[in-house]
Amino acid sequence: MHRANALGRGNRKCSGCTAKTTERNQNMNIIYNEKNRVFKLDTPHTSYCIGVVDEENFLGHVYYGRKLGSDDLAYLMRTGEPPFVPSENNRDRTSFLDTFPMEYTGHNLGDYREGTLSVRTLSGHTGVSLSYVSHSIYDGKKALEGLPATFGGKDECKTLEIICEDPVLKLQVVLSYSIFADTDAVARSVRIVNQGGEAVYLTKVLSACIDMDNDNYEMITLHGSWARERAIQTYPVRKGKQSVGSVRGESSHQEHPFMAWKSRTATEETGDVYAMNFVYSGNFLAQIEESQFGSIRAMMGIHPEDFCWKLEPGGSFQAPEVICMYSAGGLGGMTRNFHELYRNHLIRGMYKDKKRPILINNWEATYFDFDTDKLLDIARQASALGIEMLVMDDGWFGHRDDDNSSLGDWFVNESKIKGGLKYLVDEVNRLGMKFGIWVEPEMISPDSDLYKEHPDWAIQIPGRVGSLGRNQYVLDLTRKEVRDCIYERIAAVLRSANIEYVKWDMNRQLSDFGSFGLPADRQGELVHRQTLALYEMQERLITDFPNLLLENCSGGGARFDPGMLYYSPQIWCSDDADAVERLSIQAGTALIYPLSTMGAHVSDCPNHTVGRTTPFETRGYVALAGTFGYELDVTKIPEADREMIPDQVAMYHKYNDLVRQGDYYRIARYADNHFYDCYAVVAKDKSEALVTYVQVLGRPNFHSRRIRIPGLDPEKTYVIENAADWPEIRQTEYRGDTLHYAGINIPPISGDFKGRLLHFVLRSHQF
Ligand code: DGJ
Repeated sequence: MHRANALGRGNRKCSGCTAKTTERNQNMNIIYNEKNRVFKLDTPHTSYCIGVVDEENFLGHVYYGRKLGSDDLAYLMRTGEPPFVPSENNRDRTSFLDTFPMEYTGHNLGDYREGTLSVRTLSGHTGVSLSYVSHSIYDGKKALEGLPATFGGKDECKTLEIICEDPVLKLQVVLSYSIFADTDAVARSVRIVNQGGEAVYLTKVLSACIDMDNDNYEMITLHGSWARERAIQTYPVRKGKQSVGSVRGESSHQEHPFMAWKSRTATEETGDVYAMNFVYSGNFLAQIEESQFGSIRAMMGIHPEDFCWKLEPGGSFQAPEVICMYSAGGLGGMTRNFHELYRNHLIRGMYKDKKRPILINNWEATYFDFDTDKLLDIARQASALGIEMLVMDDGWFGHRDDDNSSLGDWFVNESKIKGGLKYLVDEVNRLGMKFGIWVEPEMISPDSDLYKEHPDWAIQIPGRVGSLGRNQYVLDLTRKEVRDCIYERIAAVLRSANIEYVKWDMNRQLSDFGSFGLPADRQGELVHRQTLALYEMQERLITDFPNLLLENCSGGGARFDPGMLYYSPQIWCSDDADAVERLSIQAGTALIYPLSTMGAHVSDCPNHTVGRTTPFETRGYVALAGTFGYELDVTKIPEADREMIPDQVAMYHKYNDLVRQGDYYRIARYADNHFYDCYAVVAKDKSEALVTYVQVLGRPNFHSRRIRIPGLDPEKTYVIENAADWPEIRQTEYRGDTLHYAGINIPPISGDFKGRLLHFVLRSHQF
């Protein structure tokens, strides 16, 4: 542990400066240069630098970008320029604070840009100012209590903890930065400790902030709605504030806890891209503010609206983690860094690196109209075609025959599930298939026995008529008795039969923030506590049932975020499984999240959300980019489609290792060109690549389309292994550099919504 001395200058030798590095972690290092008072965090290709200035020990952001050899960087903080630092000219303290590139900010003392931390004392005051006190550097990374977070062993990551303090409030702020040997990410989080003698209200605690000059950046955010999640939007960063956020109690369909800012000339392969992604599933704010002097402040954390946390003396508050990313290799570089980080350091459990069973889900097949016989009919057909798991969706419990009742009554409805659940599951198992089940634990229907017994268990504001969503209320999971009751009911169902998969759904967003379980001055804690409660329940579930495959879901893809990925290796991407719509939804999702995490199914046609009819084959190609499964009544689809299923199953088994583990390259996005979509997955060892091409609309009188396929070994020769599937592509052998820089000509295909796969493999004699 290093401390600032009386003059604010640390004077002990830093272990990080002389740290021995093993072969693996030569890619990463953290040092503190005591002379310049600069911290430097080196990831494989980037450096992140923080400085301490002035006798007040302000902590400033110095640099984030390509890896640097030198830590002689303190000059970048412009402390020699007017307005002067407070100690030299206290008369301009406000001007100094309003321009200094803060590493983590205070509030109401002169920095007029939006800040990361706000408080209210018992006397009603809101000023807060932070100064560096000490730091420590260690191997590995601590877990964040009660929260999802990235992880890694002692040889896989290193952590810097900087302790700051507001000496007046006696508030300690611990800033954590973890870096990884295999990925260019900086994982940041913040812990606030009240060392004073009286309670203080935290009215805003964001998790990270980066101040830098605006280099003509463009901002990228993700937007959507139900059935059209995560559309990519790009726009110039301008003066003032531009933000996205959610106050819906979940990360939401509408906006996403992610933002990037990139140089205007950045492409898929080159140029500066910075990004932040929040490892959290509740309310969030992501914002960039450009100041009067052209600097930007990017910040991310729990949305301050409706947030107020009472911190008692001696208490601490842990804010969730933000992943900061820089790539000099364009947007594609950013994407692959996120995929690598999440695959290696966020997703857990036995399915982390495993192929997932191909499932068939009965939602679009039957909706609520099913019984044991119907499910077994589907299972019989499905198992004969090679499908590996039957998932029974909504409607198996209470008296739920539509979406108006029974949430909370987690008891099998044996008038539908005749013979009982165990009988059904055993029969499905006898067919050689696994069995999975749908639940929605966070909800309560007004028409339920649970609500009749415990009307106060719903989140609500006393004296107001509760706002319904899908005719249901949200359960107040901040109350332990509620969590325990629901968990026990669901666990009893899971224990009653051989259930190997759970789809955990959440079909309405939060509103009416009010809890009968919290005192008046803690009502502002409700939404965060609800998110913590969700995490606690899912942690309990995967601990008690370690072999369970958990798939999260929220009215489609409203809670597809890194927080949920910590508990479930896959998340249902969207209720829109139309192959064309999925091109955009999956591209937006895969901007950040690995293909192995994207719940993607071949669904019925005409599609239930857009009414479009696409070829069965194309639906299969598009679903291959995710976990792969079926969402249709296999007993009712046309014979010709059914006959394609064994081939699709074989295709999944052939390609899924590559799709799950490989490097993803966007080649052309349908959302940009309205004509075709193309992406590739390249094996880490560059031995093969799978290219998916979907021509959305046929066009008259057009010549072929040139696509470039990056990522393969430039000096090796590849052949199209499945060339017979597309005889119009006459040349079948290419060098990697030719594929990357010259590309191949994709012949026009007659018709709409037609897809093709190209599988490139190393020419055999090079193995
Ligand atoms: C929303 C999900 O996204 C659907 O797949 C389905 O499970 C329904 N909920 C069931 O209510």
